Amino acid sequence: MSMHDDVARILVSEEALRVRVAEIAAEMNAIYTDAEVPILVCILKGAFMFLADLTRQLTFRHEIDFMEISSYGHGTSSTGVVRILLDLASTIEGRNVVIVEDIVDTGHTLDYILRNFATRQPTSVRVVTLLNKPSRREVEVPLDFVGFEVPNEFVLGYGLDFAEQYRNIPYIGIAKPEIYQAIPEGD
Ligand code: PRP
Repeated sequence: MSMHDDVARILVSEEALRVRVAEIAAEMNAIYTDAEVPILVCILKGAFMFLADLTRQLTFRHEIDFMEISSYGHGTSSTGVVRILLDLASTIEGRNVVIVEDIVDTGHTLDYILRNFATRQPTSVRVVTLLNKPSRREVEVPLDFVGFEVPNEFVLGYGLDFAEQYRNIPYIGIAKPEIYQAIPEGD
């Protein structure tokens, strides 16, 4: 039984991801210069694959750092309560920051990060997210670069997990309901 058998359908193909990541990189290359040396902050774990593909297409000098944020509970919806599991190694005061997310859903995670970063006095903060699920938004958050708007379906692959698995699927798929229906909400 392959992981791919748990995918109901492909939402964003490998080719579509390749094309869109290149377009996002081009948008960013048009904005940033070597003078800014922004810090790209990859929000673990989901954004690792997007970050890896994106960074290789950026032509301006930049640094990379990592932050891991978790909502309490690992169900299919965010509770709105978040905590830092891994903080930045870098100081971002006076620096230009680009937050790299895989998906913005309710917006609570990103809202928390933005409010937290504001206290550290960076020069600028922009947000790039591969996926945006606006139908689920509970708090308004500014997005500077967006790869794809996705419907309110359970998406996995290309870094996004279900129960910590499926992150290595090279495309964005919609999970078959039977893989997550057995799991209680908020578990
Ligand atoms: C996902 C995603 C965002 C957040 C978005 O992370 O990477 O950080 O949820 O949801 P929100 O807009 O409703 O806050 P998750 O907590 O699944 O962790 P992971 O990336 O380690 O899988």
